[in-house]
Amino acid sequence: MRKINFLSTVFFTMCFLGLMALSSCQEEQTPKHTFEIGKNDFLLDNQAFQIRCGELHFARVPKEYWRQRLQMTKALGMNTVCAYLFWNYHERTPSEFTWEGQADVAEFCKMAQEEGLWVILRPGPYTCAEWTMGGLPWWLLKNDDIALRSKDPRYVDACQRYLKEVGRVLTPLQITQGGPILMVQVENEYGFYADDAEYMGIMRQAVLDAGFDVPLFACNPKHTLKKGYREDLFQVVNFGADPEDGFKKLREVQPEGPLMCGEFYSGWFDTWGTPHTFGNTEPYLRDLEYMLKEGASFSIYMAHGGTSFGFWGGADRPFKPDCSSYDYGAPISEAGHTTPKFFETRELISKYLMPNEEALSEPPAAAEMVAFPEVTLTSFAPVFDNLPRAVETSEPKSMEYYDQAQGSIIYRTKLSAGPECKLSVGAANDFAWVYVDGEQVGIMDRRKRNYQVTIPARSKEATIDIFVHAMGRINFGKEVHDRKGLNDPILFKADGKTISTSKWEVFNIDYNDQWLSGLKFSASETPNTKPGIWKGTFDIDTVGDTYLDVSTWGKGVVWVNGHCLGRYWNIGPTQTMYLPSPWLKKSENEIMVLDIVGPEKMVISGVKEPVLDQLRPDKDFSGTKRPKVNLNIENKKANLVSAFKPGGESQTVMLPKNVKGRFFCIEPTSSQNGQPFAAIAELDILDAQGEAISHQKWTIAYVSSEESIGENGIAENAIDGQTFNYWHTSWSSEKPNFPHCLVIDLGGEEDISGFTYVPRMDENGPGRIKDYKIFVGNDLVTK
Ligand code: GLA
Repeated sequence: MRKINFLSTVFFTMCFLGLMALSSCQEEQTPKHTFEIGKNDFLLDNQAFQIRCGELHFARVPKEYWRQRLQMTKALGMNTVCAYLFWNYHERTPSEFTWEGQADVAEFCKMAQEEGLWVILRPGPYTCAEWTMGGLPWWLLKNDDIALRSKDPRYVDACQRYLKEVGRVLTPLQITQGGPILMVQVENEYGFYADDAEYMGIMRQAVLDAGFDVPLFACNPKHTLKKGYREDLFQVVNFGADPEDGFKKLREVQPEGPLMCGEFYSGWFDTWGTPHTFGNTEPYLRDLEYMLKEGASFSIYMAHGGTSFGFWGGADRPFKPDCSSYDYGAPISEAGHTTPKFFETRELISKYLMPNEEALSEPPAAAEMVAFPEVTLTSFAPVFDNLPRAVETSEPKSMEYYDQAQGSIIYRTKLSAGPECKLSVGAANDFAWVYVDGEQVGIMDRRKRNYQVTIPARSKEATIDIFVHAMGRINFGKEVHDRKGLNDPILFKADGKTISTSKWEVFNIDYNDQWLSGLKFSASETPNTKPGIWKGTFDIDTVGDTYLDVSTWGKGVVWVNGHCLGRYWNIGPTQTMYLPSPWLKKSENEIMVLDIVGPEKMVISGVKEPVLDQLRPDKDFSGTKRPKVNLNIENKKANLVSAFKPGGESQTVMLPKNVKGRFFCIEPTSSQNGQPFAAIAELDILDAQGEAISHQKWTIAYVSSEESIGENGIAENAIDGQTFNYWHTSWSSEKPNFPHCLVIDLGGEEDISGFTYVPRMDENGPGRIKDYKIFVGNDLVTK
C-alpha cells in the first residue's frame, strides 16, 4: 500500500512538473507577433511593415544611458533599433565570454522592447563600424598566417564558437519567442572584402546552428552586392546618397522582396588629422523622404553615434586612426541631446507614419551638462620608470605574440660602439619613438610609412629603446590583419652591412588597471616630452555630463575614476572628450592622462559644449603628415589620355599596355559639369592579371589641392576603400583650376594593367571627372 502511495505521489509530482514546463515553454512558444519577409513588404503580424530603424551601439553608450538613448531613438520616429555586436567586446580572451554590465546585450534588447522598439541584430562576426579590428578579436592574429573572413578553419571554428554563444544569449529574445529581435545579419559588407559565396554560406549556417530562426540577411554597398551573393540570404543595400540608384542595383540581384537600405549615413566618422564631418542635412532629408515616399525600409547609420571609449576605436585604411568621439553628425548628439537634424528627421517622419500608428513620443530629457574650472595635474609617472617585467628574446615580435591586446610596447637592445648606422623595420604599428641612451633620435610614423631612423655614432655600447604606441586596429579591408608593434625585419645597418645586436628585452604595456594602480608618481610642475602618466584630482559642484577640454595635451589616453574615456590627439579635429555623469562624483575625482609626446600645459577643465572640428596640423609631433616632394611629370609622356563616362557608375579602364612603376598618377584636366573641381570616391589599381592591388602599403605621395575646411575632402579618402567619402580639390578657400593631380605611392614597384575609378556618389555633387591623363613610373615625385 505504502509503495503504491509513494509511486502515485512520484507520478503526480512528475505530471505537475511536466505541466509547469509545458506551460512555460508553451507560454514561451506562443509568440505574440510574427515577422517575415513578404513578396513586396516586410510583414509584421501579416501586415505590411516599414522598418524605420536607427543604428545605436550599446558598447558606445554608458549602460546608465541606454534607456534614454532608446527613448530618443523612438522619439526620432524609429520603430526599430539596429545593434552591432562587437565580437572582441564579448570574447576578450579565447573562450571567455562576457555578457554582463556594459556588455549585457540581452538587457539592451529587453530595454528596447520595453521602449516599444523592435531590434535588428548584427552579430558579425566581422562588423567594421570604426571599432578596433572591425570587431574581430586580436588574439586571432596570434596565428601568423591566419586568413580572416575566409574559410580558414581556425577562423571558422572561432566564429562558430562565438555565434553559438550569441545564440545561447539572444535566441530567446527573437520575435519567434516573444522577444523584439526581427532579423539577424550575417557578416557585414562582405562584398567589399572578397567574393566567396561558400564562406557566406558557412557564416549563414553558423547563425542558424546557433538557434536563430528569424529571417537572416546580408548587407553591401550597391557596387558589391553581387560579390559573395547567395539566394538564401535576403539582401539589403547600404548607401548615403542616390537611393533610387541604390535600390535599382538591389533589384538587379533581388527582383522581389521589400526594399531596404541597411545603412543610410546621417553623417560620417572622424579620423585624426582630418576635418570633422557634420553631415550635410539637406541631401540626407531629401533622400530619406524619397525612401519614405517609396515605402522602403531603412536604417539610419548612425541615429546616435556615442563614443569609442577605452582602446576600442579602430582605424580606417590605409591607416587613418579613428577619433574617440563617434558623434558621427548623427541626429542624436554624442551626449544624447537633440540636434536640428533630430527635429528635422522627426518632423519628416511624422508626415509618413503608417495608418495604424499613433503620434511620435516626446524626446526624453538628457543629462544636464556641467562645466568645471581648470585643474592642473602635478604628479608624473614616466613610463620608462615603471616598466613591467621584460620578456627576453632574440626575435622580437608584434604585440599579439606576447598576448598583448593594445597599448604600447618597448623593444630594448644594446648596440656596440661604432659609426652612424640606420635602424629600419618592416613596419612600426603605429608610431615609434627611438631613443639612444634615453635621448630621442627619431620617429617612425605609419601614416608616412617612414620606417627608418639614423642612429648616431657611438663611442661606447649604447642602449637602444624603441617605444611603439598602437592606435586601434584597422577595421576595414585586408588591412584588418593588423599586428601592432614592430613587424619584421628589424635591422641595424652601416655601409650596407647588418650590425648584430645583443638579445632584446620586450616590455608590454597595455595600460591595465593593475599597472596603472602600481605607478610610482612624483611631483612635477614642468611639462615632459617623455611618455608618461600625469595624475590629479578635481571636485565639481554639480554632477552632470561634461566634455573634458584636453587641448593643451599632446597625444594619449585619459582615465577618470578608473573609466577610460578613450584617445586624444592635439592635431584634432576633436579637442574634447565626453565624460558621462555616471562616472563622476562630487569630489576627489581622479584623473590620469597618458601623454606620449608631452603636454604644453598639464591642465584640464570641464566644458558644456564639445569641440569636434578644430584641426591643428602644426601640432603634429612628426611634422607634416606627408613627406614634402615635388611633382615630376612635366616632361613625361602620359601612359593614357582619355575621358570618363558621365554618371555615378564605377569605371574600370585598362591601359594600352602594362606599365611598371611605384607611383600611379591621375591628372584630371576637366569635369563633367564644367566646374573647376575634381573628386574621386575610390581608386583601385589593377596588377598584370587585372586583380586589384592591396592598398596595404599605399600612401598619398602628392596632391595638387584638397578640401580640408569646408568638408573632409582629403586625398586619402580616394584610397581608403570607403565609397561614401571622397578626395575633393579645394573649394572653400581657394578654387584652383585644372589640371589637378593626385599621385599614389604604391609602396613598391608594381606591374600595372589598369585601374578602377569610383566617382563621387551623390549625383548633385561637383567634381565628377571628364578628361584625364594617367602616368605610371618610379620618379613621378622627387624629394
Ligand atoms: C560601412 C560599415 C559600417 C561603418 C560604415 C562607416 O558601411 O558597414 O560598419 O563602418 O561603413 O561608418
